Amino acid sequence: MSQAAEMQICLGSSCFSRGNRDLVMFIRDYLKKHHLEDRIIFRGARCMGHCNNGPNLTINGKLFENVALAEIENILDSEFRNLK
Ligand code: FES
Repeated sequence: MSQAAEMQICLGSSCFSRGNRDLVMFIRDYLKKHHLEDRIIFRGARCMGHCNNGPNLTINGKLFENVALAEIENILDSEFRNLK
C-alpha cells in the first residue's frame, strides 16, 4: 500500500505551547484507530513562520492555522475521507 498523504505538525515552541502538544497525541491515536499509520507520513516540523496564528500544521502542503483540539477530528475526517 503506498503512502497517500503527508502531514507535518509544527513543533516550534509557540505552537507546541498553544496546543500542538495535545494535537500530536490526538493525531497519533486517530491514525492508529483508522489504520492510516502506513498511509500517512506524520512528522514534526520546525517553526513554520506563522507563530501568531498557531497552532499550525500542514496536510499535503496545505496550511491549517489556529487548529483547536475540538476541530482536529473534523479536519482529519475531511482531508483523509478518501483513504478510509
Ligand atoms: S512555532 Fe509554529 S509557526 Fe512558529
